Amino acid sequence: MCGIIGYVGKGQAYPVLIGGLKRLEYRGYDSSGVGLIPSMLNGKIVLRKTDGKIANLEKLVKSQPIPESSLGISHTRWATHGAPNKVNAHPHSDNTGRISIVHNGIIENYELLRDKLKKRGHKFKSETDSEVVAHLISEYYKNDLKAAVIRAIKDLKGAFALGVISLDHPDELVAARVGSPLIIGIGKSENYIASDVPAILEHTKRVIYLKDEELAVLTTDNVDVFKFNGQKVRPKIDRVTFKLDAVAKGGYAHFMLKEMHEQPDVLKQMLNARIKKDAISLEGIGLTDKQIKAIKNITVVACGTAYHAGMVGKYIIESLASVPVTVDAASEFRYRNPIVDKNTLILAISQSGETADTLAAIREARKRGAKVISICNVIGSSLARESDGILYTHAGPEIGVASTKAYTAQLCMLYLLGIKLGAAKQHLKPAEMKRLIKDLKQVPKLYEKILANKNSIARIAKANSHFGCFLFLGRNINFPTALEGALKLKEISYIPAEGYAAGEMKHGPIALIDEYRAVVCVATQSDTYEKMISNIQEISSRKGNIIAIATEGDKSIRKHVHHTIYVPKTNNLLTPLLTVLPMQMIAYYISVKRGCDVDQPRNLAKSVTVE
Ligand code: AGP
Repeated sequence: MCGIIGYVGKGQAYPVLIGGLKRLEYRGYDSSGVGLIPSMLNGKIVLRKTDGKIANLEKLVKSQPIPESSLGISHTRWATHGAPNKVNAHPHSDNTGRISIVHNGIIENYELLRDKLKKRGHKFKSETDSEVVAHLISEYYKNDLKAAVIRAIKDLKGAFALGVISLDHPDELVAARVGSPLIIGIGKSENYIASDVPAILEHTKRVIYLKDEELAVLTTDNVDVFKFNGQKVRPKIDRVTFKLDAVAKGGYAHFMLKEMHEQPDVLKQMLNARIKKDAISLEGIGLTDKQIKAIKNITVVACGTAYHAGMVGKYIIESLASVPVTVDAASEFRYRNPIVDKNTLILAISQSGETADTLAAIREARKRGAKVISICNVIGSSLARESDGILYTHAGPEIGVASTKAYTAQLCMLYLLGIKLGAAKQHLKPAEMKRLIKDLKQVPKLYEKILANKNSIARIAKANSHFGCFLFLGRNINFPTALEGALKLKEISYIPAEGYAAGEMKHGPIALIDEYRAVVCVATQSDTYEKMISNIQEISSRKGNIIAIATEGDKSIRKHVHHTIYVPKTNNLLTPLLTVLPMQMIAYYISVKRGCDVDQPRNLAKSVTVE
């Protein structure tokens, strides 16, 4: 859960590395560093490392300038082993100082390896698992960097993406991956490695998605890719389709704000691409219509926000297709001996496609014979590669740590899947299907309406930003919306927040209610509306401060609550697509008001590539 970028070429390495790190900062931002081979060799790899954000590294380099260099590696860290400080920041070097590495992932057997290496005279400086890699490569180094890296990898257990440089090879950058993502950018007289495309998009759109257990040797004019057994492979060069402005704030104060505003377009594009004359195309799913019809049960595995999308998916699929759906937190799935076999369809949901728990869950499911299809945003991600079928959400890069557009895109895909399944199973009548598709197509316009109301939502959020505790309540298909609202608020404002099924309130959480709590209630028109109003009255009589998310036109709700945010009327089944928008906006404006770091909240990283 770190970001790495490396450069070899005719140009200057440092500007490329620092620019790339800024674009990778969403992956981790507690410390960073850069390692360069100076063009005028002076017997040392130049290292600059510091704690804190990339801005600190820039400041350091200003105060301690670096020499010219056209080969370097750099890293932005999310600490796993060892505190976030200068010593633990990457790159790490061997004792000779002639080999340096950057690492993303976890070396599970590092203690064992470190003990062995210590006995052989290696001296360790940091508390990290990563440092062992530099020493190990050094141990095996006999004038051939590639061979030493391959040999060292044989001893490593865990997940890693590596960038390696050596003073003895001033024009060579070696990279390898197992489990953690790594791409290679192909430029003109320059080549790059990076954890993710945005880091190099400014320089090239031609990329190789390095596969697991592959190693690459990059020089100024060449990239060779090998399997770990040394066999050379011919990599596929892809062309990235998104533009640089997709990874820039574009005038918005934060990426999260920009990404919230992109939601109408993301949905519009998905619906245009997937709905053809009232029929749904799930190209990529890897199942024939006959196989889709034969699906008997589905198990969703996902984490965090994607897990909440899966929970909404359960309501959608069970209601439209009458297919039973189990939803598992991926981090729990593999440790509870799941009942999964060749008759189970696993549906993995992930924005990044690199979440370690989700990947571990699908690997476990596949071992047990299940077929895996995934809903994923990042093209060429590990999840995409390891699934039997893939439904890309094409939401574009999501940089803000708090997931917004990826969530609504996942929901939209789940509606399409539910409709397709319902139609295949003839559970959904053609007329109902037509109506639902028509309603779904209206959603982007309804989004515009909610977003246009942002000033009033911001006012409500700010007026409630002083509360030290929030409760989010919803029923039925909007129960997951309540969970998602609480998660958004927690992660970007650090306010303790709980999401609950409103009917469960009287079984415990009602004890929390007093004049110091704020309660956000999803109370849109539905079969459970009256019940929700009863919950609201229970909260009101205990002096809780209520913000209701209600259906446009519902004036009567106002007498029970302190604030009302209206969403347009739509088919009840589709309401989670709408009600989550005010939740995202409440969290955003509260975070801004409290002066929190919206896009890079403390202790978090965008993709959680460790268990
Ligand atoms: C969402 O706001 C979170 N940052 C987090 O819960 C996220 O959804 C989770 O880590 C899963 O990530 P993924 O979708 O990339 O698998």
